[in-house]
Amino acid sequence: MAIQLSLSFITIDRNGQVPIYLQLESEIRNAVLNGTLPIGVKLPSTRQLARDLKVSRIPIQNAYEQLSAEGFLTSKRGAGTFISEVSVENLRPKAAGTAFADKIEHSRLSERSRFIERTLATTRIEEVRPFRPGIPGIDLFPQKAWGQSWRKAVKQSVSTNYGYGNMAGSLRLRTAIAQHLRHARGVKCTADQIIITGGAQQAFSLLSFSLLDPGVAVWLEDPGHIAIRDAMTAMNSQVFPVPVDPEGIDIAYGKKHYITPKLIFTTPSHQHPLGTTMSLQRRIDLLNYAHENDIWVIEDDYDSEFRYSERPLVSLQGLDRHQVVIYVGSFSKTLFPGVRLGYIVAPTDLIDVLKAAQGMLTHGCCGIVQAAVADFMEMGHYETHIHKMRKAYKDRSQLLVSTLQEKAGKYLEVSNPSAGMHLLAYLKQGDAKALCKMLWQEGIDALPLTMFSAQAKVPNAMVLGFACATEAQIVEYGAKIARILEQQFGRA
Ligand SMILES: Cc1ncc(COP(=O)(O)O)c(C=O)c1O
Repeated sequence: MAIQLSLSFITIDRNGQVPIYLQLESEIRNAVLNGTLPIGVKLPSTRQLARDLKVSRIPIQNAYEQLSAEGFLTSKRGAGTFISEVSVENLRPKAAGTAFADKIEHSRLSERSRFIERTLATTRIEEVRPFRPGIPGIDLFPQKAWGQSWRKAVKQSVSTNYGYGNMAGSLRLRTAIAQHLRHARGVKCTADQIIITGGAQQAFSLLSFSLLDPGVAVWLEDPGHIAIRDAMTAMNSQVFPVPVDPEGIDIAYGKKHYITPKLIFTTPSHQHPLGTTMSLQRRIDLLNYAHENDIWVIEDDYDSEFRYSERPLVSLQGLDRHQVVIYVGSFSKTLFPGVRLGYIVAPTDLIDVLKAAQGMLTHGCCGIVQAAVADFMEMGHYETHIHKMRKAYKDRSQLLVSTLQEKAGKYLEVSNPSAGMHLLAYLKQGDAKALCKMLWQEGIDALPLTMFSAQAKVPNAMVLGFACATEAQIVEYGAKIARILEQQFGRA
């Protein structure tokens, strides 16, 4: 006679969102998979279980029927319902940490995925807390105007919105971007030179995939953008970290210490994360060096719209006479990161290959989002929003500077940013990395400057983003930083 088990381990949440039959199904399915219910055992009758669990028979019948259809249970006429005689052993997770499990895991991982596992580029990216660098002030985003553009895009059921569309992206959006860039950034381009991407990061991956053979040399600013450093390393490029001096990426250092690269990555308008602006002389030297040696230069113009003291600088691309610069921009800072749109402005000769690569890697970006952003730009909301945010970020940066200087000036020296969305807070004592860990426990997302360095010796400083924090948060969390510093070092 089959053994009949009780299902006393099942607990039902009567006030929850999940219907009772789904809760039952999931509890029994999991119990079979993890071995709590061995194969062959008989389940209580629906009547019995309804009594035990104090529920009606209907959800139990539903759950038994569904699990029978999935093959977990077998009903035998006149005998009852049993756990099926199928081997679920292989579906059970292997015990973690055993030598066997480790061996299987590793033999299935590529060298590349082992590197990918260690990247810091995605650290804590999901949750936005005060002072997270690089996140815009979403609280000030014009939801109403965006909603209108969005609804229009949804209604326009044309194939460009609902089909795959052009692999270079929507012509309407490319036209609006070209117009904005010519006017605001001095970029020399037409809509035909633009490829729409899923954010700047996808642009970097697409460019690395298309332009770099394994083993070729690339120069990246150090300290610099972690996500591109790791993406290019994962693509098997030889990544050479080039120091940054007050004029920008130190080309002389690169020439002296490294082989000639195929590509140079730079953030000339606002060096990421140090915040310096590349001098005109350095721009000219870089463009000449690139032209003479057939080097591509990626200009990442990620937050250049936000300059507070003078007008934004003309882009490096705008100075380029030899088509060496590939300009990359993003809507992550000017709109919001979740929109996942960016763009490449490339020399005309590269467009066909980048378009084909975009088709090969991604099949393009969401048509409706592109149409909504195009409308938002055409209606003038984009320019208005940037203008508004420039003022708001200036105010936020000044408030953070004054709060920290006033409350924590004994422990910190704070940079006064003239551009961008973050500032640097230099520690007079203690270690920035350890402090950032402590601040995280208190709800603050600050990053140590060392995190952005490959080998550069950087100051003992924290990177604090002021754009995403409201005035109230700046005051509250600025004071919190001061309190924590006082607790740590006050008595020392
Ligand atoms: C230096 C730099 N460039 C570009 C970006 C934008 O990346 P994406 O457009 O993929 O959000 C970021 C985002 O934080 C950044 O830090």
